Amino acid sequence: MAKKVLVTGGTGYIGSHTVVSLMEGGYEVVIVDNLSNSNREVVDGIAAITGKRPILEEVDCLDKQALTKVFEKHAPLDAVIHFAASKAVGESVEKPLLYYRNNIGSLLNVLDMMLRFGVHHIVFSSSCTVYGQPDKEHLPVSELAPVQKALSPYGHTKQVNEDILYAAAYAHKELRVTLLRYFNPIGAHPSALIGEQPNGVPNNLLPFVTQTAAGLRDKLRVFGNDYHTPDGSCIRDYIYVVDLAKAHVKAVERMLSNALQETITPPDAERVEVFNLGTGRGLSVLEIVNTFMRVTGQNIPYEIVGRREGDIEQVWASPEKANRVLGWKAETPIEQVLLSAWNWEKRIRHIQ
Ligand code: UD1
Repeated sequence: MAKKVLVTGGTGYIGSHTVVSLMEGGYEVVIVDNLSNSNREVVDGIAAITGKRPILEEVDCLDKQALTKVFEKHAPLDAVIHFAASKAVGESVEKPLLYYRNNIGSLLNVLDMMLRFGVHHIVFSSSCTVYGQPDKEHLPVSELAPVQKALSPYGHTKQVNEDILYAAAYAHKELRVTLLRYFNPIGAHPSALIGEQPNGVPNNLLPFVTQTAAGLRDKLRVFGNDYHTPDGSCIRDYIYVVDLAKAHVKAVERMLSNALQETITPPDAERVEVFNLGTGRGLSVLEIVNTFMRVTGQNIPYEIVGRREGDIEQVWASPEKANRVLGWKAETPIEQVLLSAWNWEKRIRHIQ
């Protein structure tokens, strides 16, 4: 019988690509999403790609009664992938209580349900933000780099949620946890049927670039060219969302196949595994913009402005552990990734 995975936030950007990967891997998927930052058409896109409709339960993870019904209805579940969360760094500074309540409350409810209904495997959607600005000696960033004080409530919720999962795994020996720390996910499915659709003015670089190319924005503002990097702009590890999605399937497979866990710190939490998901290569903001212009033939007017508060100068992953232990690698060339982002933007804006 097909294994069944419940995916919270499954109509979101990374969630929807992961649902596609799971379905292509033969899993049955139940999406739980309150559609606060997505819409029902995402399910149509997933169905068009995979030829099968995933189940969508339109439920907020904070609504414990409704969540209970979902777990009851779809039992037995083999695993949960928990994406559902608010993710805008700036907004989290303005509305910290909303972020703490939503991001932490959701995970607590999901864990309560898992324990109650005997679901023992969870993949948690974490972020490289937990590392802050790593010291030079920790670049590229491995899973052993120290977690540093968070720079925003958003980042802090990721850290607190990781701690909650460690504590839960310690107390409940049947639980197995995989923490996936993403670097900067970009791009869209090659079909252009699903992709990133931010509400309002995008905070993240790639949606701003594609919206500028589509004529929705006058120009891109590049936040700072006086960093200690070769061209002065910040460096990130941009990872293709389709590659990232596949890592989730590998993580679920690994937990379900009961593969041996590597002991990581803290030492009593060997049923918790952490993986950094990136390409291992850092690219600057200007490299991204120039490569985008070259591969798409679109002009991106931009101006250099002051630094953005809270930005980290440079960070990129060591994906060595994920490569070795999960048998996963981010392989898609950046040119192809940037083109996929543009193809998606063109489709949703009806540009030929
Ligand atoms: C940050 C977090 C990431 C989190 C994400 C959520 C870090 C290292 N990363 O990503 O974990 O999941 O927020 O939103 O803390 N830029 C411009 N102009 C723009 C937009 C961005 O120059 O209009 C630059 C930024 O200064 C940065 C780079 O582009 O150097 C990437 O920015 P963005 O896409 O917002 O991602 P992060 O801030 O790296």
